[in-house]
Amino acid sequence: MAVFPIRQFGDPVLRTRASEVPEVDRAARRLMKSMAQTMEQAPGIGLAATQVGVLKRIIVWEWEEEQGQLANPVILDREGEVEGEEGCLSLPGLLYPVVRSQWVVVEGINAGGERVRLEAEDMRARILQHEIDHLDGVLFIDHLSEDLRREAMSKLRNMEAAEEVPAGF
Ligand code: NI
Repeated sequence: MAVFPIRQFGDPVLRTRASEVPEVDRAARRLMKSMAQTMEQAPGIGLAATQVGVLKRIIVWEWEEEQGQLANPVILDREGEVEGEEGCLSLPGLLYPVVRSQWVVVEGINAGGERVRLEAEDMRARILQHEIDHLDGVLFIDHLSEDLRREAMSKLRNMEAAEEVPAGF
């Protein structure tokens, strides 16, 4: 297993759409494991393969004892809207409220190669939406109002590397 460096804002890979994984084979499983380890060490609660420079549609997360991995995750259904604070390991130091669906149904392929469908709400739903966004080259700051996004960008420019980094995804 390996811990990957996490790509940071400005890296064009973060703006690139990731490709579907044809199957969850040994290589995909190994990637999931390394991503989980990278996320744990960061520390974070979610990570998309895009963030480690691998343009495959794979996400991992850890929330309330659940260690999740999905390949080719797709949101099939969503309901409600809720605002909550988000950060991102690729934009360390930024935390902003983002409106997300409160409830989602996500389908994908798990580490065992099985097609699974899961229902998630609140924070778990937020993590899934945030990570799936990454696979499409979308960052959480894209969901902010123009004013907040401008503020975020100027914060990013002025941020000292030594600043404390809040947990992100
Ligand atoms: Ni993120």
